[in-house]
Amino acid sequence: MAANTAVALDGVPETMLWTLYQRAAEARRPDTVLPDPEAVALVEAVAETGGFAFTERFGHPHPLAAQALALRAACFDSVVRQFLDAYPDGTVVSLGEGLETAFWRCDNGRVSWLTVDLPEPLAVRHSLLPHGSRQHTLACDARDPAWTAGIDPARGVLVLAQGLLMYFRPPEVRDLIASCAEHFPGGGLVFDAVPRTPGRPADPAARRGPPVARGYRLPPMPWRMNARQRPALATAHPAVAEIRPVELPPGRGLLWGTAAPRVERLPVLRNRRPTVTLLRFASR
Ligand SMILES: C[S@@+](CC[C@H](N)C(=O)[O-])C[C@H]1O[C@@H](n2cnc3c(N)ncnc32)[C@H](O)[C@@H]1O
Repeated sequence: MAANTAVALDGVPETMLWTLYQRAAEARRPDTVLPDPEAVALVEAVAETGGFAFTERFGHPHPLAAQALALRAACFDSVVRQFLDAYPDGTVVSLGEGLETAFWRCDNGRVSWLTVDLPEPLAVRHSLLPHGSRQHTLACDARDPAWTAGIDPARGVLVLAQGLLMYFRPPEVRDLIASCAEHFPGGGLVFDAVPRTPGRPADPAARRGPPVARGYRLPPMPWRMNARQRPALATAHPAVAEIRPVELPPGRGLLWGTAAPRVERLPVLRNRRPTVTLLRFASR
């Protein structure tokens, strides 16, 4: 990164700094649930070279959030690894990848990895991370199906949308699913969702995002989905052939080690909790 290139983002792009900050904090622990040396080095580079004052902006890392985001990333990694077992030369497309370092955690030496993000955050990523010959980047709005062009579905395609779809409006999420189903027969899409909050205003876009630190709130999250609403995803496109819940791996401590793995057995919480879902698309 050029010495005078300051990292200055806002809105949804800025959230990539928050998720990186939390993941790196978790990765520094000796008992971490997700070893991630690249994230640790990257957060230091953003602070030192990019001049971004993480603590000033986001407060200190929150241990529960840090572990939750690392477990979410581990959950996506497990889907990527299963995909690469079946399609070692396949393509992983990471939409809204931000400063995720999943490529280094999951690389099998053969995968082709495409990062899609908006121009400004992508420029930050480019300036901080090395990009090898199997890593490709595209500055494109994930809501614009133009990013699907040039990807060969025959080699296998897995699309990741980690920490992204909640920032879209419901019809945009539907269109994105339909577009993936249309362009990637035999492929898959994995994404996470935040649950609906009872008693919130009718216009979901008007909601404020959750506060995560003094003076910092995540942006509004217009798209939300409870676990029970998963079957409705099939209506996005006739080629949605399978809707599979992906559970977080067990973590540490009372919440992530003891309670979270048992939540599936608790009627209300089972429905209203953050989820990860894998959609598989029919082959033609
Ligand atoms: C919460 S961050 C998630 C980053 C990364 N996936 C992670 O889990 O750490 C949201 C990311 O989505 C990107 N993003 C927001 N809107 C987007 C859009 N319309 N198209 C593509 N990327 C978008 C942001 O720039 C940012 O990198």
